[in-house]
Amino acid sequence: MRRLLPDPAPLDDAGLVEAYRCPPGRWLRMDFIASLDGAITVDGKSEGLGAPGDRRVFRVLRALADVVLVGHGTAAAEGYHPVLLGSAVGRLRESLGRTPTMPVAVVSRRASLDPTSGLVTDAVSPTILVTCAAADPGRRAALAEAGVDVLVCGEDDVDLPGALDALAERGLEQVTCEGGPQLLRTALADGVVDELDLSVSPTMVGGEARLLDGALPSPARLTLRQVLEEDGMLFTRYSVG
Ligand SMILES: NC(=O)c1ccc[n+]([C@@H]2O[C@H](COP(=O)([O-])OP(=O)(O)OC[C@H]3O[C@@H](n4cnc5c(N)ncnc54)[C@H](OP(=O)(O)O)[C@@H]3O)[C@@H](O)[C@H]2O)c1
Repeated sequence: MRRLLPDPAPLDDAGLVEAYRCPPGRWLRMDFIASLDGAITVDGKSEGLGAPGDRRVFRVLRALADVVLVGHGTAAAEGYHPVLLGSAVGRLRESLGRTPTMPVAVVSRRASLDPTSGLVTDAVSPTILVTCAAADPGRRAALAEAGVDVLVCGEDDVDLPGALDALAERGLEQVTCEGGPQLLRTALADGVVDELDLSVSPTMVGGEARLLDGALPSPARLTLRQVLEEDGMLFTRYSVG
């Protein structure tokens, strides 16, 4: 891995961690990978775009986070698991003096999370559901019964700024959001995104899955802060707003 911007230099594993640290306090970063033509999936998953460097960046962004935030569509499509003791992320977190696990918070208007899924039953740090009052009360109760920390934020739809407040009240201030396109669009429209970390895979894919699932009310302006490179993949870090 090497840094191209600012200050070109080779980066070892410790340097990679430093390259992705956030300022102290509340921070929401969005982590995505896309092909050169803007596709975010190959056969419905992001895995086909990845490379060893991208997987290292993914682990670093999780290791630096207090909580992973993800839309239910992505959690389901990508087969999400909790962050487990002894996992690669857990070991990296421990080496940084952090707790070995942290919760995954799933955003779902309909409280679609399956209470029998591993994401719920295997979690060391209880999985969080971010939903709204309109979600089925029976589903919410079943998830709470299964050990999920159910956050009701908003009436008919999830109030994302309110959800970030509720996470911060639990001490979960540094948030790495792993998508997907619907959650990125609403987070940008709500003005709550601090940073976009976009890995650009040197591939052409085609298809329809893109970073955003629809138009924003107005274009978001981003500022390029950092570019890393490994094996032709660019790892960009943009600040938002
Ligand atoms: N390349 C990458 O970096 C990357 C990253 C992430 C995802 N992906 C890909 O994107 C695809 C998933 O896309 P998706 O459109 O399903 O995205 P998504 O945003 O992960 O999921 C959409 C679902 O999540 C819930 N949700 C998202 N935003 C919400 C909000 N603001 N308020 C309330 N609920 C919200 C809703 O769940 P309910 O229907 O349960 O209410 C909604 O139906 C997968 O193929 C995945 O592989 C790629």
